[in-house]
This record gives sequence, structure tokens and C-alpha cells, in this order.
Amino acid sequence: MTAPTPAPTPAQLAAIPAERLPALLQAMPKAELHLHIEGSLEPERIFALAQRNGVSLPYASVEALRAAYAFTDLQSFLDIYYAGASVLLTEQDFHDMAWDYLLKAQADHVVHVEMFFDPQTHTARGVPFEVVVRGLKSACDRAERELGVSAALIMCFLRHLSEDEALQTLDEALPFRELFIGVGLDSSERGHPPEKFARVFARCRDLGLHLVAHAGEEGPPAYIESALDVLRVERIDHGVRCLEDAALVARLAREGVPLTVCPLSNVKLCVFPDLAQHNLPALLAAGLKVTVNSDDPAYFGGYVNQNYLAIFAALPLGAAAAYTLARNSLEASFVSEARKAEWVEGLNRVFRGFAQASAS
Ligand code: HPA
Ligand code: ZN
Repeated sequence: MTAPTPAPTPAQLAAIPAERLPALLQAMPKAELHLHIEGSLEPERIFALAQRNGVSLPYASVEALRAAYAFTDLQSFLDIYYAGASVLLTEQDFHDMAWDYLLKAQADHVVHVEMFFDPQTHTARGVPFEVVVRGLKSACDRAERELGVSAALIMCFLRHLSEDEALQTLDEALPFRELFIGVGLDSSERGHPPEKFARVFARCRDLGLHLVAHAGEEGPPAYIESALDVLRVERIDHGVRCLEDAALVARLAREGVPLTVCPLSNVKLCVFPDLAQHNLPALLAAGLKVTVNSDDPAYFGGYVNQNYLAIFAALPLGAAAAYTLARNSLEASFVSEARKAEWVEGLNRVFRGFAQASAS
């Protein structure tokens, strides 16, 4: 047996020139941990599904729909996102949507994805939970077999709805407990603090589900704290507003809480005016376990590699940051330590390969 490839040394990372960064960012194996599968529905797929299912859309064409993607905040996006999801009716629809995404993930060298889905968006329209989860899971299983991409599901509760509705959704989901690995919390953040969902998250914890929540995207740092203390989540989705609270930053660093940051989303939803003013370098400098993700790639202008490419183009980030971000994504995933070690070794090989090519 050959010895595992060790991590690249600081000198090797420093030797990789800036012009090699785009190729490196593309080639490096990575995990995507913040991806709403309904947010991967491209306008072309929305129109095709509308036609297949006889659903009428309030937009005349693909171009007209795409032109509506000018958001001023989270809510202005969510209104269009829920309208887009209304074309999804059958198990095949959910499978096709997830498969479209998984093909793109493979092309981006995503080795593992933990995919959010919003069952309440669909059950409210009369689509059974089983149709949603079986369609998505069959695409995940197919990706493992045919693409070599590992994929798992995280069920999100919509925070603008009540906790009783979330508890009811959990009851509907329980017969399919083996088809998803965890639960999350998404939708309109302001006015809907994590503690509103204390009971349902406690139940999910007892069921052995992994726990995550969106917090500190538009909401204050206090929402990050209550997601950790009340919901007891293992990762924070977004979390970029943590920098407003130095004690919270120190805690996140000390406890190694992963943040699933989504740069293009943050700009599209006006969390930052542009990428050059994104706080990702400051988050990294504070020692936080930052990852890069696409959130809703069909709406925000790019899949995960485009997020990496854009933020590295806009900010002074080099190969060392690329290594840290990719490694964080693999380590923050909900897979076995053995699986993580295997992927990290693959990451080490890619970086050492780039370093050697740069040296010669
Ligand atoms: N934030 C909150 N809820 C969401 C998002 C988001 O970025 N995308 C889909 N649902
Ligand atoms: Zn999100």
C-alpha cells in the first residue's frame, strides 16, 4: 500500500501562480453544502415542466422570466423562487430537476452534495411528500452509481410558516426517515428567529437527524447564537453577519462551526454591494471554517465553481485560501471520517500536482 498524499506545504501553495488559480479552482474536489434544489431550476426547465404539466406561468417567455431575476432582498427573490417551483408535480419532475443539477455538480468536480429541499412548498399545492422525496432520492442514488457523485438530502422547514406546520411536515416525513440525513431552516429570515422552531428541532435531534439552519444572512448575529444554543445546529448557513459580534466570532472559531457562505447569492440579494466588498477574506482571517456554495444557482448567476472563480477574481485570495475552502467543505460534510480522509487525499493530490507543475 502506498502512503497517503500529505497536505501541500505552505511553500508549495505559495508557488502556485495566480494565473493557475482558475484551473485549480475548477479541478479541486469539493463538497457543496448549501444548495436549494428548487433554486437550481433553470428558466428553460421551468418552461418545459410547465408545458409538460399544463401549468400556466405569469411570464411570456424564458427571457421574460430571466429578466425578472433582479432582486432587492431575500423576500423579492423568494416570491419568484416559489412561483418557479409551482411547475413541479410528479416524481419524474423532481428527479429531472435534481439530475440537471447533479450533472453540473460533476462537471464542477463536486464529489459530495448535501441538497436542501422545501417539502412545504410542494405539499401546500397538493403534491404528496412521498413524490418529492422519492423523485429527489432516486436522482441522488443514480448520481452515486452513474456519476461517482455522492448526494444526500436535507429537508428544510419554511420559517415564515408556523412551528406546528413544521411539526406536521416532520410527521409526514417520518415514514421516509431513511431517505434524508438532516433538517434545515430556510425562507424569510427577519422576524422569524430560530427559537420559533425549538420544539421541532429538538424532536429531529432525538431522531438522530443532522441539524443546520440559515442564520445571519439578513438576520442579526443573535439569530446565529440562538441557532447554536436553542436549535443546536451543527453548521450555520450563510452566517456572514457574525462579524458584527466579536464574541460570537471568537466562539464560532473556537468551536469550529462551519459557515456555508454563498458569495454570488449575497450580492444578488444585496447583502453586500459587490464581491469586492464581501467579507469572506475577513471570515477566513478570523479562523472561521468557511465554505463556498451556490445557494440557488439558477437565480444567482452561477454554480459552485462560478462562485469560487468570481470571489477569487474580485478579492486577493490565493492557492492557500483555495485549499482551505475546499478542505473545509469536505470536512464540514456529514459523511464518515474515512470518506472525508479519502476525499482530502484526492484534494492533496490535485494541489501537489499543481505545485509540481508550477515548479518545473
Ligand atoms: N435564504 C433563505 N431561504 C432560501 C434561500 C436563501 O438564500 N434560498 C432558498 N430559500
Ligand atoms: Zn440558502
